[in-house]
Amino acid sequence: MPFNTALTRKLGIRVPVVQGGMQWVGYAELASAVSNAGGLGLLTALTQPTPEDLRKEIRRCRTMTKYPFGVNLTLLPAIVPPDYAAYAQVIIDEGVKIVETAGNNPGPVITQLKKAGTIILHKCTTIRHAKSAVKLGVDFLSIDGFECAGHVGEHDITNFILLSRARQELGIPFIASGGFADGQGLAAALALGAEGINMGTRFMSTVEAPIHQKVKEAIVAAQETDTALVLRRWKNTSRLFANKVAKDALKVEQETKTGEFSEVQPYVSGQRGRQVFINGDVDFGVWTAGQVIGLIHDIPTCEVLLTRIEKEALEAMTRTSSLFTDAPSSKL
Ligand SMILES: Cc1cc2nc3c(=O)[nH]c(=O)nc-3n(C[C@H](O)[C@H](O)[C@H](O)COP(=O)(O)O)c2cc1C
Repeated sequence: MPFNTALTRKLGIRVPVVQGGMQWVGYAELASAVSNAGGLGLLTALTQPTPEDLRKEIRRCRTMTKYPFGVNLTLLPAIVPPDYAAYAQVIIDEGVKIVETAGNNPGPVITQLKKAGTIILHKCTTIRHAKSAVKLGVDFLSIDGFECAGHVGEHDITNFILLSRARQELGIPFIASGGFADGQGLAAALALGAEGINMGTRFMSTVEAPIHQKVKEAIVAAQETDTALVLRRWKNTSRLFANKVAKDALKVEQETKTGEFSEVQPYVSGQRGRQVFINGDVDFGVWTAGQVIGLIHDIPTCEVLLTRIEKEALEAMTRTSSLFTDAPSSKL
């Protein structure tokens, strides 16, 4: 039985599952596989060194799927920021109709994309930021709980609270992000008022994720306790896979006398993290993973994963509705 939620209707997808933007993972191989499996795959814009490279990647993805896919555009603080407007223009020119935005000061980019009629899913970790995004006219919020991989924000509110706050406060449709890996999770998110879910870490451990097999195996072997929160001291808290480098970074962060970011910087180098996905040495640099690693026990294709999630969600919803009956209990 197909799902019928605000997300599936608006995006034209079968399963209400989005593959969140992932730096150095969100290439055409993964995005097209997720879209072919009935979800929404996303290319990650900044994984491409220039807007023109993004154009090529969008065209490549289009040869790999006939279904809708989108692009994630993440706005991070940088001394020399990327030309976000140029990335957004390529997305518009190439006819991509769905964009996941995330990060700081998304206003100008959202305005640019909305003028072109793009559907925007804006990802954020607080209700305050979500409300600002509503004012900017986004179509969906993607509410990223404290469980999530990557930038968790500074308030540490898990999805049990955050999703219900979203339902109470936002007035526009939202999806649940952070901590999802299975159909029971999807059913729970729908029950809390979401129109679907967004998953990152779960999609890293799929056949089509273009990262080294050893990283996928490390995710399968890990438990929910195997993540670390680093960079809190500088109000840029990130949830990372708790490998040796992440633990060393945390130690420096806690023990530094100067409090200078430059002391920890070599440990959290993005370029070394990128190498992990290529060389499969999971201790080579830091890389992002969510607490959901504790729920990931295999490396399926995206098709197998999404079919399973659909089936599990239906079973979970059937089970919960069977727990309620009008008939008086004979034991009472
Ligand atoms: C390896 C990796 C890289 C990520 N890079 C980005 C990114 O560049 N931009 C972004 O908005 N989110 C990024 N995320 C976050 C995901 O899009 C998603 O919000 C998050 O993974 C949800 O939590 P989950 O891992 O528990 O599913 C990344 C996540 C992972 C695992």
